[in-house]
Amino acid sequence: MNANIAVLEGDGIGPEVTAQSIKVLQAIGKRFGHQFMFVNGLVGAAAIRQVSDPFPEATETLCRRSDAILFGAVGDPEFDSNPKAKIRPEQGLLRMRQVLGLYNNIRPIMTFSEILEASPLKRERIEGVDFIVVRELTGGIYFGKPQGRSENGELAFDSCAYSKYEIARSLIYAFTLAQKRQKRLTVVDKANVLATSRLWREVAHDMSKNYAEVELSFLFVDNAAMQLILNPKQFDVIVTENMFGDILTDEASVITGSLGILPSASIGDSLALYEPIHGSYPQASGKNIANPLGSILSAEMMLSYSFNLMKEAACVRAGVQASLKAGKTTADINASKPVGTSEVGDFISNYILNSLFTPGP
Ligand code: IPM
Ligand code: MN
Repeated sequence: MNANIAVLEGDGIGPEVTAQSIKVLQAIGKRFGHQFMFVNGLVGAAAIRQVSDPFPEATETLCRRSDAILFGAVGDPEFDSNPKAKIRPEQGLLRMRQVLGLYNNIRPIMTFSEILEASPLKRERIEGVDFIVVRELTGGIYFGKPQGRSENGELAFDSCAYSKYEIARSLIYAFTLAQKRQKRLTVVDKANVLATSRLWREVAHDMSKNYAEVELSFLFVDNAAMQLILNPKQFDVIVTENMFGDILTDEASVITGSLGILPSASIGDSLALYEPIHGSYPQASGKNIANPLGSILSAEMMLSYSFNLMKEAACVRAGVQASLKAGKTTADINASKPVGTSEVGDFISNYILNSLFTPGP
């Protein structure tokens, strides 16, 4: 197949990790006979510096013309340390999610048997953990209006709002996903306090009639934070609002062993964007030490979700597993004998090109 991929590397370690995904996708193209075309676009602090806009129109146009988007990371200490900065790199990511209508963020939490010891949690507690968080991505407190400061500057405010429509499109995705998996869906909310959460419950209750075979349960977010560590195997599909999903997936990354490994897909009605869940990690920028697996596994998600290339995706996964098995990993999971970001990418692309990998049926 031929596919046009928009590449938005962004800031910090974004360019380094994204480069490894491109290597891997090129190897897949070579081995399986596909043509992937990569076109770069500006986003984040890099875009602010060049064109004073964290999500320029040219980037939006590029995204709309592409078959899929590969995203690195945004964020820069220069802006974090200046609370008065009017334009922030993160605004680019948020605006992009909103204008491209990427309303569901899919974050799979999996363990790799090769690196169970990298997790601070006990082996028996995490072995075999496999669940997916569906995070609503374009609503809630991230986007609610009004947001701002009072005139005298003594007060700041954010608003959390959800419409039934926004809630329903995340729930439909989550119910459908649960149907294809272990048929257990957990809605995480704070319905004992928040009106928006009570609306989530109402919509979920009503919808559950259409998915009789899915076992629906509700969990308050504070309890969910505890359950993720105490007994993560209980989960199959979790669905939750924007901010709870943001926080809980960083927490859940501890199960896998490193925030650097986890991928995500942001999906709308037509377009989809793939990005690691980690941030721009500016301290590591340019040092060739960042873990590229979050990005590489995001590329794997692109192959399966956007292009339906299942055996190609399985080949990427096999390459990742081979790299973990061989100890060809970065310092976050292999402190004693780490290899660099680009060596991980080289190892996996060599595996793809040269291994005897044959996919199952
Ligand atoms: C994420 C990030 C973003 C978010 C930031 C960079 C705005 O933390 O993708 O999880 O909060 O959504
Ligand atoms: Mn986050």
